[in-house]
Amino acid sequence: MKNGLEDVIAAETQLSDVDGEAGRLIIRGVSLDHLVSTATYESVAALLLDGLTERQFAPAELRPWLGEMRERLFAHVTALDSQLLALPPVDVMRALIARLPDGEDFEAALRLLAAPAVFLPAILRLQAGNDPVAPDGSLSQATDILHMLTGELPSAEQTAALDAYLVTICDHGLNASTFASRVIASTQAGLTSSVLAAISALKGPLHGGAPGPVLDMFDAIGTEGNARGWLGQALDRGERLMGFGHRIYRVRDPRADALKQALRPLVSAGQVDRQRIELAEAVERAALAILKERKPDRPLDVNVEFYTALLLDALGFPRGSFTGVFAIGRTVGWIAHAREQALEGRLIRPRSVYVGPLPKAA
Ligand code: ACO
Repeated sequence: MKNGLEDVIAAETQLSDVDGEAGRLIIRGVSLDHLVSTATYESVAALLLDGLTERQFAPAELRPWLGEMRERLFAHVTALDSQLLALPPVDVMRALIARLPDGEDFEAALRLLAAPAVFLPAILRLQAGNDPVAPDGSLSQATDILHMLTGELPSAEQTAALDAYLVTICDHGLNASTFASRVIASTQAGLTSSVLAAISALKGPLHGGAPGPVLDMFDAIGTEGNARGWLGQALDRGERLMGFGHRIYRVRDPRADALKQALRPLVSAGQVDRQRIELAEAVERAALAILKERKPDRPLDVNVEFYTALLLDALGFPRGSFTGVFAIGRTVGWIAHAREQALEGRLIRPRSVYVGPLPKAA
């Protein structure tokens, strides 16, 4: 019995394949490296949803529909009160999404794709004491997210970097949050319920909650010369190094390199703190060396969260919001899996082995 269900096959999917030995990710027949250099958020969303909703559409149609939906959803931001705003951003976002109607149709899917993109920037602005910025439906989803976050139009490099991030994390096999989404979908509860369950699974530090702590680690380390000593002490305390290790990958997570690549234009354009990038690279080198010494039997390499932290920080997202940004990108994967599961039509209901006490004989 494996409590983490490792190596258990729980679904057949046409959506994505994670090859942990080769360090390769395929999304609907396209390799991540190709996808990330050619796709936008909208095109990858169209690719993932193709054939899984009742409406057939051309990829180009998605951008204006999403824009219109973002504008409609902005009214929901008025439901934010000070009690709700005191919670972490991802929890506030989940609470707003919970107010949306459930459903299985294309309209429900579109609403859920647009909702986190509108809600998170508004939440972050309100938490910082600023008024929310209304969406501009004529913009792409990535451009509009940054526009709603800062109140200004982002540079071309910033939009490209956020698009690359959203594409990179759109789907990833049967990870914990996607599995949660499929379990809920199998009960026919509806897409909103699936997405809410998935967000709840995502927020844990062993899944999508790691990138904020990655930045905390950089801050605590401070200088390149401090990296090895700090990391060694963290491991001595029995802590895990955030941004390293993965259940499936036994080599480098290909998404880490996709994001490292996506950072380059921002660096060239002088839109990133170079010192932080240099520190991160030194931390990565020191961590890989020390993990190899301390855990020789377990190949541990950098995962997606390490460069997520650098990229989202460079784009101006506060570190407490990184899990929420992850949810913006992953929602399309959750929806596609939920639809695939619902079309399969079978309730997910595994069994457990009872190891508790038996009733006493009368
Ligand atoms: N730092 C130090 N040691 C680690 C790390 C790490 N980041 N990850 C795994 N290990 C060690 C464990 O301590 C364990 O050592 P032991 O056998 O001496 O006890 C060994 O490697 C195997 O660990 P498991 O728990 O079997 O690994 P699992 O597959 O369950 O872990 C996980 C995967 C949860 C991602 C883990 O690597 C981790 O906690 N990483 C840090 C958090 C993180 O970066 N999360 C984001 C993951 S990516 C994502 O979900 C989007």
